[in-house]
Amino acid sequence: MAKRLVLAYSGGLDTSVAIHWLTARGYEVIATTIDVGEAKDTSVLMQRAVGAGAVDVRIIDLKQEFASQFLWPALQANALYQGRYPLATALARPLLAQALCAVADETGAQAIAHGSTGKGNDQVRFDVAIATLRPGTEIVAPAREWGLTRADEIAYAAQYGIPVQATLDAPFSVDANLWGRSVEGGVLEDPWNAPPEECYEWTADPETAEAKEVTVAFEAGVPVAIDGVALGPVPLIAEAQAVAGAAGVGRIDLMEDRLVGIKSREIYEAPAATLLIAAHQELEFLTLPRELLQHKAGIEQTFAQTVYNGLWFSPLREALQAYIASTQQAVSGEVRLKLAHGKVTVLGRKSPSAVYSHDLATYGAGDLFDHQAAVGFIKLYGLQSQAYAKAQAAKAHA
Ligand code: ARG
Repeated sequence: MAKRLVLAYSGGLDTSVAIHWLTARGYEVIATTIDVGEAKDTSVLMQRAVGAGAVDVRIIDLKQEFASQFLWPALQANALYQGRYPLATALARPLLAQALCAVADETGAQAIAHGSTGKGNDQVRFDVAIATLRPGTEIVAPAREWGLTRADEIAYAAQYGIPVQATLDAPFSVDANLWGRSVEGGVLEDPWNAPPEECYEWTADPETAEAKEVTVAFEAGVPVAIDGVALGPVPLIAEAQAVAGAAGVGRIDLMEDRLVGIKSREIYEAPAATLLIAAHQELEFLTLPRELLQHKAGIEQTFAQTVYNGLWFSPLREALQAYIASTQQAVSGEVRLKLAHGKVTVLGRKSPSAVYSHDLATYGAGDLFDHQAAVGFIKLYGLQSQAYAKAQAAKAHA
């Protein structure tokens, strides 16, 4: 009897060929496309999957879940891997794995397959998540086992009449969702090469892009409006992408350290993430006390690394996220930013829960700061440095 298998299906060359390859190895393939914000023609997807031999095709829209359960926690963590990459791909993988497991449960499938190669982070993210959520599931990664080149795949598709739309000269490998696009391969593999303009689809050329001002409003660490227009998570991210992208904001060129030990050159386009993280972090600077900001910065880095390294479904990620969530109650208010020449500059910020107090900070009239208290504070604050200096001096004279 054929083994039932759920395949993460993107509609591209790799996974279309994979349907045929898996079918030829005795699997009954349920092609499953999960929509996390990469616009795709669903009728074309259906036709291709069936044409390649899938017994069933499922298209599941999880944009809302992706935004509220994955992107908002990442935003609250100001999560940037190696200080730069907003983790779009890394955040989507665990949600995809979860959805694949749910389809496998529903259809009684024994196996789950994904299109990751043996060189990247995505295989780790998928495999670890699936093994954690659905122990005993057989995991198949055709590209990892098979190791075909793009040319081989095109030839395979032609040989078996698999409907694909791929040409040999596809310049880059791209993954995209609500939080950003990642682009790798081709001429980018030489880190000395400047990224060609055709890498970019969501951002205008920063040199010629028009400057703009934008206001982002937050409630308890969640963005709720742009320029005074209240928006739900998915449309808000789309609007942030449009506004920031038009100003050329969100291009990232990173020498990245993969979990598997490879350094790779990655181009990202993440206008929404770049704008929203800048605004969110600014509001934290206004509303959170110094000690918390300093301590949270370390937690943020660990959160970004944990997500990047494929440990979304881990007690560590849960604990870090709980910490981060506990800091967000005060992070409400508005941030005014200028977007110009690919850069975000904060112009202003305000909040009903600002820790900033004009009466304490002012050099003008109405100053409430206790200047005399500063004298005693300084005396104690410098005590150890003075004692140390005194001891050193005594030693030198002995
Ligand atoms: N390097 C990034 C990550 O590990 C993105 C990889 C996405 N894949 C691609 N074909 N561009 O999260």
